[in-house]
Amino acid sequence: MSVPFFNYGARYAEDRDVIKDIVFQVGVSDNFILKEGVADFEQAIRAYTGAKHAIAVSNGTTALSVILRALGVGPGVDVLTPAFSFISTASTIALLQARPVFVDVDPVTGMLDPADLEAKITPNSRVVIPTHLFSVMANMSAIREIADRHQLHVLEDSAVALGASMNGTKAGLLGDSGLYSFFPAKPLGGIGDGGIIVTNDDELGQRCRMLRNHGQDGITRFLHHHLGYNHRMDEVVARYLQHKLLRFDQLIERRAQIAARYNEAFASLAPDIRVVTDDHYDRVYYTYVLQSERRDELQQFLQARGIETQIYYPLALPLQPAFAYLGHKEGDFPHAEALTKRSLALPLYAEMPDEHVDLVIEAVLAHSHQVAVHV
Ligand SMILES: Cc1ncc(COP(=O)(O)O)c(C=O)c1O
Repeated sequence: MSVPFFNYGARYAEDRDVIKDIVFQVGVSDNFILKEGVADFEQAIRAYTGAKHAIAVSNGTTALSVILRALGVGPGVDVLTPAFSFISTASTIALLQARPVFVDVDPVTGMLDPADLEAKITPNSRVVIPTHLFSVMANMSAIREIADRHQLHVLEDSAVALGASMNGTKAGLLGDSGLYSFFPAKPLGGIGDGGIIVTNDDELGQRCRMLRNHGQDGITRFLHHHLGYNHRMDEVVARYLQHKLLRFDQLIERRAQIAARYNEAFASLAPDIRVVTDDHYDRVYYTYVLQSERRDELQQFLQARGIETQIYYPLALPLQPAFAYLGHKEGDFPHAEALTKRSLALPLYAEMPDEHVDLVIEAVLAHSHQVAVHV
């Protein structure tokens, strides 16, 4: 039996008729983009998260671009961002001709390190982008305190953290602005790309709303207040997401159950296998990532048993060829670099059958026992 890392067929099987219906209804409606379905979905996200403003866009990356543009980020501005994240967190800064200032991560959680953040702030720093990854959240209270002292806007990259919360506040609303991605693999995965911006800031919300649609105000067509983008959401995507949001809590609960089984099974394997068990927040499991000093060996061992895994992420962002112009070198971000050598993501999705969870657990335990025998 093989255990796939994702199983999109299983994810969408239940919604087969709903999807057909949505595509047909939108197809014959003359309303394809940024219409009632998008407005309803924005309202649903406001209700779910408590955000004052929710602005649906084409994906998580464009959400980041729109927010940064709305904040006036451009040439001469420095934006602080983790050295360990998905590329969007940093590429969107660079594409606006601003400078990504990379911050190392906490060696245990892998999220932006507040101490290094403080050390890296420059006179041109205006924004910090802490990222939540996998199921782990950045230390938002420490980051908030530093940001307030240095008058930085906190743009929370909560692309993968819809539903997670800290002290009763949803991820995405712990900073000054946030976003969620609806890429099909995400906990609220759509049928295609999708994203949404959330904020409680009226002025920022209004600016983002205009920038996603060519700088128009939604009232007077072809009057362009700003140079904006076409980063709009399609009706088909919005209507499906709205439908799926109805069972989102069940979906993330199932993810949490699988993660709890992994946590329990691997608890005794430290220091060979480590997982982050920080309980300062209510987490949502986008992926289950463990740390292993023998990561490559473990990955091959699982592969030989038909279990697919992924490495998030194999290279620290400052060392990516795309950022070579910034002149960083190996050793500049020791914690981020260490994580790129140790992290391994195991299969975890709401539709994953228990037998597959059993197989993954058995294989990880078997590898650890084999390692124990040989050392
Ligand atoms: C942390 C993080 N930020 C931003 C994004 C970008 O989202 P999208 O793929 O919808 O553009 C991703 C996507 O995986 C992500 O993991």
